[in-house]
Amino acid sequence: MLTALRSQAMCGIVGYAGARSALEVVLNGLRRLEYRGYDSAGVAIVDGGVLQIEKRAGKLSNLEKAIAENGFDTSAGTGIGHTRWATHGAPTDRNAHPHVSVDGRVAVIHNGIIENFAKLRLELEERGVEFSSDTDTECVAHLLALELTTHTSAQDSTTLPEGALAAAMRRVCQRLEGAFTLLAVHADAPGVVVGARRNSPLVVGCGDGEYFLASDVAAFIEHTREAIELGQDQVVEISAAGVTITDFFGTPATGNSFHVAWDVSAAEKGGYDYFMLKEIAEQPQAVADTLRGRLTETGEIMLDEVRLSDQDLRDVDKVFIVACGTAYHAGLVAKYAIEHWTRIPCEVELASEFRYRDPVLDRSTLVVAISQSGETMDTLMAVRHAKEQKARVLAICNTNGSSIPRESDAVLYTHAGPEIAVASTKAFLTQLVACYLVGLHLAQVRGIKYADEVAAVVEQLQQMPAAVEAVLGTMEPVRELARSLAGSPSVLFIGRHVGYPVALEGALKLKELAYMHAEGFAAGELKHGPIALIDKGTPVFVVVPSPRGRGVLHDKVISNIQEVRARGARVIAIAEEGDAAVEPFADHVIRVPRTPTLLSPLVATVPLQVFACEVAATRGHDVDQPRNLAKSVTVE
Ligand code: F6R
Repeated sequence: MLTALRSQAMCGIVGYAGARSALEVVLNGLRRLEYRGYDSAGVAIVDGGVLQIEKRAGKLSNLEKAIAENGFDTSAGTGIGHTRWATHGAPTDRNAHPHVSVDGRVAVIHNGIIENFAKLRLELEERGVEFSSDTDTECVAHLLALELTTHTSAQDSTTLPEGALAAAMRRVCQRLEGAFTLLAVHADAPGVVVGARRNSPLVVGCGDGEYFLASDVAAFIEHTREAIELGQDQVVEISAAGVTITDFFGTPATGNSFHVAWDVSAAEKGGYDYFMLKEIAEQPQAVADTLRGRLTETGEIMLDEVRLSDQDLRDVDKVFIVACGTAYHAGLVAKYAIEHWTRIPCEVELASEFRYRDPVLDRSTLVVAISQSGETMDTLMAVRHAKEQKARVLAICNTNGSSIPRESDAVLYTHAGPEIAVASTKAFLTQLVACYLVGLHLAQVRGIKYADEVAAVVEQLQQMPAAVEAVLGTMEPVRELARSLAGSPSVLFIGRHVGYPVALEGALKLKELAYMHAEGFAAGELKHGPIALIDKGTPVFVVVPSPRGRGVLHDKVISNIQEVRARGARVIAIAEEGDAAVEPFADHVIRVPRTPTLLSPLVATVPLQVFACEVAATRGHDVDQPRNLAKSVTVE
């Protein structure tokens, strides 16, 4: 039976051609890409007419150990490497990449899914090819080898004719369906790495006499900050001499050149035990960077790329926000701000549900897609569905040139810098900032807010980096509390209004990092069922709204605290400085600075991130790479 493991759907890939040791460059690159998946890893190096290959199930450290033990000894300058996140089937040595053709000459790595693999595999088997893995990727290695045998006449030479591997890749790609980034090397093509992409990311790093290929610039940022983003359906060949890009039919193409604004230190832990701690600490800077330069001299909010006219925005009569996970929680907060400031109805949808319920969309609908990676397949599919229905799409994204912003009509980039820890922290805060800016922009274009009103909110936003910094300075009691609660069977989080998404985010962080039962609820919903979960000593985090805002909201939350307290809960209140009303009812009060209610998630979320991180560390978990997860979810 033909059951291939379509298991390469979300992976990190890196390739190198130059004068350095490709093994070193590739392993360093994989280290930075491990956030994309860490179920298995492998490398292939072209060395003196042979392919040296090593691959192992498990984290990169397993591969490094195998390389050290097996005396894998090469300083050759051409190679590829892969780190994998399995979607189907067990991640084993056999299914790890690279995959090699029967003649042992071609090695291939892959990110994506080849949808017609079953047909291709059958065809290859009929031609006598024996498969040595269950993956769809292996087809590509065999197809490349066959193409080269059919089309390359220079059999007397031990090196492939120039351009032959790229030409074979183009012919193979014409036959592939699905989403893929592919890299290939050939034993008889020393100095050459060939890549291809469709619906999956691939960037070229351009050094001095050396070139890199990777799913993400983080893989080569220590060597060069000059990069080229490949377009859809393109093939690239790199060597020490340069880079050649064509489409799948050989027509020369250029790709999109850009300079990477951040440097290698941004992708290092910088003295912190975990990337997550570093990224939590970077939040004031990330918020400030996302706000920087957004107001024009005339007080208008600027987006980054706008392929929409002001009239298009004036015509908007409905906003849908689509996103997943933490980004979805940012969307839930955005709904309050957008409806309040623009008076346009706004709905927030899980991207994975959006297109299946056939939402009512037309030209006057604005769909806002929020995604840190810009590659989340559920969100990308929601964007495509929205575009098919003629809706306008605006992306909020942290990754320059990724698929979601590329396919949208307008983009506002968050400037969080690279987020390496799997659990999203600084990306979330910057997504909130971007959502506020989008709300203000819409309100301004539609004439609902004047420039001075917008400037007043921007001024409040500009106070937020200092407010977040202040929260970060008072986190020791939260860490202590986390250590004392690390053994709790369950933790609940409740909030109202914008405090509700904060509660959801607090619960998500704890689930994904500490593997504990955690739930977030709208505080008013508790009495409709979930209050039965509360037992003696159950920790309940309560996100308390400002007493200076709508008083009714604050009073209601105080009542909710009393309800859970009466049932034995241990109440941990996150409350504004000076809010004395919570003290008699809370076992612990975590203070956050005074902020306008709509902006309060920017400070209230931070203690919950710190709490989850500390609980996870206390329980001995890998904080940066929680089990079963990957950073960039490029499967539906
Ligand atoms: C949770 C987390 C995920 C992501 C979600 C969307 O900490 O990181 O829930 O928020 O997978 O990812 P992006 O924003 O890349 O679309």
